[in-house]
Amino acid sequence: MPEADDSPADKQFFVDVPQRAEPFFLKGCEHLDWGLKNRLASIFNPVSGRTVMLAFDHGYFQGPTTGLERVDVSIVPLLPWADTLMLTRGILRSVIPPTYRGGLVLRASGGPSILKELSNEEIALSIEDAVRLNAAALAVQVFVGGEHETKSIHNLTRLVDQGQRHGVAVLAVTAVGRELVRDAKYMRLATRICAELGATYVKTYYVDDGFDTVTAACPVPIVIAGGKKLPEREALELAASAVAQGAAGVDMGRNIFQAASPAAMLQAVRAVVHEGANAGEAHELYRQLAARP
Ligand code: 5RP
Repeated sequence: MPEADDSPADKQFFVDVPQRAEPFFLKGCEHLDWGLKNRLASIFNPVSGRTVMLAFDHGYFQGPTTGLERVDVSIVPLLPWADTLMLTRGILRSVIPPTYRGGLVLRASGGPSILKELSNEEIALSIEDAVRLNAAALAVQVFVGGEHETKSIHNLTRLVDQGQRHGVAVLAVTAVGRELVRDAKYMRLATRICAELGATYVKTYYVDDGFDTVTAACPVPIVIAGGKKLPEREALELAASAVAQGAAGVDMGRNIFQAASPAAMLQAVRAVVHEGANAGEAHELYRQLAARP
């Protein structure tokens, strides 16, 4: 028998206090549904409003990439410092411990290998399997200006429809073909198209000139790709410049797992993204952590 709740004098209804409604912390995401926001809060840190995503999905088109030959050896020890993992479902099921509690962004497009035309991708993951795996977001490559531009954009819009039905976010990854110029004009075009067509957030490359116009013109959060391996100090400068110009974090792969000390690099990137460290401070942190036995 439940205990009777019959002492109205003790009840507190705070009739003069308006119900609180905290604004959601991510740009352009205020009107999303609760489940989608909750998943986004597993990708982005609600305190800093930013994310450090560790990307190691490269194998989906280029096989055992340098640094990823054994994900169990090179990546699993880094998990404590990653806000979010960007990976394939194959690596998730075969290698990543299910005790991992951060955000999961699953590679959802694929098809061609590095031996073929990369823009010729199809959707490569069902929404049911993504939900079964507790994915917070689906990542899809979008080739604006590429040979199969329309097909890749159609992949994005189909995943957005499926994601909206199930409360799963969609990360549009702007893939820039070799024949295209990586400048602010192109990045504004590509990121804005992705956002207009429903991407929850967008990944793009940093550009030296006018990156703040790219983030300003995109109505949803932008994270930057690390790109090819740079000296550690330069990669930290890239991350610092991007967040200073409006990026909501990084989705970095090779510049972390190909660094001389990946764990130290990941912590240094965190200092930039979440604590506002400048590149010099973060590089000093990197050197100190990397020198530890
Ligand atoms: C593949 C991807 C990768 O996950 C990502 O770009 C790789 O990260 P990085 O460039 O930092 O190695 O989206 O296109």
